[in-house]
Amino acid sequence: MVRPVYWEAGRVRLLDQRLLPQQERWLTLSRWEEVAEAIRTLQVRGAPAIGIAAAYALALAAEENSSREHLERAAAALRATRPTAVNLTWAVNKMLRRFQSVQDRPPQLVRQALIEDALRIHAEDIEANRRMGDLGAALLPLRARVLTLCNTGALATGGHGTALGVLRSAWAQGKLAMVYVCETRPVLQGARLTAWELQREGIPFRIVVDAAAGALMAHGKVDAVVVGADRIARNGDTANKIGTYTLAVLAAHHHLPLYVVAPSSTLDPQTPSGSQIPIEERDEEEVLTVQGQTLAPQGARAWNPAFDVTPHELVAAIVTEKGVLRPPYEASIPAAAA
Ligand code: MRU
Repeated sequence: MVRPVYWEAGRVRLLDQRLLPQQERWLTLSRWEEVAEAIRTLQVRGAPAIGIAAAYALALAAEENSSREHLERAAAALRATRPTAVNLTWAVNKMLRRFQSVQDRPPQLVRQALIEDALRIHAEDIEANRRMGDLGAALLPLRARVLTLCNTGALATGGHGTALGVLRSAWAQGKLAMVYVCETRPVLQGARLTAWELQREGIPFRIVVDAAAGALMAHGKVDAVVVGADRIARNGDTANKIGTYTLAVLAAHHHLPLYVVAPSSTLDPQTPSGSQIPIEERDEEEVLTVQGQTLAPQGARAWNPAFDVTPHELVAAIVTEKGVLRPPYEASIPAAAA
């Protein structure tokens, strides 16, 4: 199984996700600013994976200079790279808390403690994914046909995946018949990355254009919609890749369950509801072009929100490593996040 980010000999190694599936190019980064730029430009992406990358970036920052001012400056810059995915802030804050607990030790020991903590965040994410895989697979019927969006696999996490981790586990248990993969415009994380992962595992899949989701459901080809999340508010409103809300409305119309799969680091009980979740707007060029090829007439403008918010009443269950959360989420989310 691919690991999109890892620590090796005091450096961060990243698989450049902008180039997949055409090219598998590994980057070796030795400065925290390079990791921040890799997060901003989607060389590494997916809420848990960017949290892990940011934790390693802080370990790099401490190698450079282990003063409080330096680490706090790096932490603030890392948090600002992608505002919606709360795992990023969660991992950065966890690293800062660790720093505060060891800051009086000699610099070499401070650096060692931060590296160990980043490695722990990474290992715990993989473990959480495996647990969510089992819990989520249990929700699916035999011979399940599942529709998913974006990339939520090993590439988007420490390894295994969230929604795609559930599909991996269901496949291993012989329960999965077909995955329908929304191509996920504008950056095509579904057609490029999810398809790449499923193909490597030998899991049967079909790519559909995002607009085909309704027709697919109307033709009776879907048993459940399974997606990841970038931030889940206290009431269960869920920010995820743009298009998730559309799938949720269609699923409700067709009486299909929509399951959200995310580790407890994606729960944000401090944010009361989806309307307070900051939604990242990305460059118009992502919509006006496809992989560098211009589509639209010269001078055309675009609107490019990277995420949307699915209201909690459209979410049948939230699968976390702490268990399957059901409504009322106002009760189950704060308990799982505690
Ligand atoms: O913009 P991206 O590619 O980082 O968006 C990723 C998603 O929306 C995923 O579905 C989400 O992070 C959950 S993944 C484990």
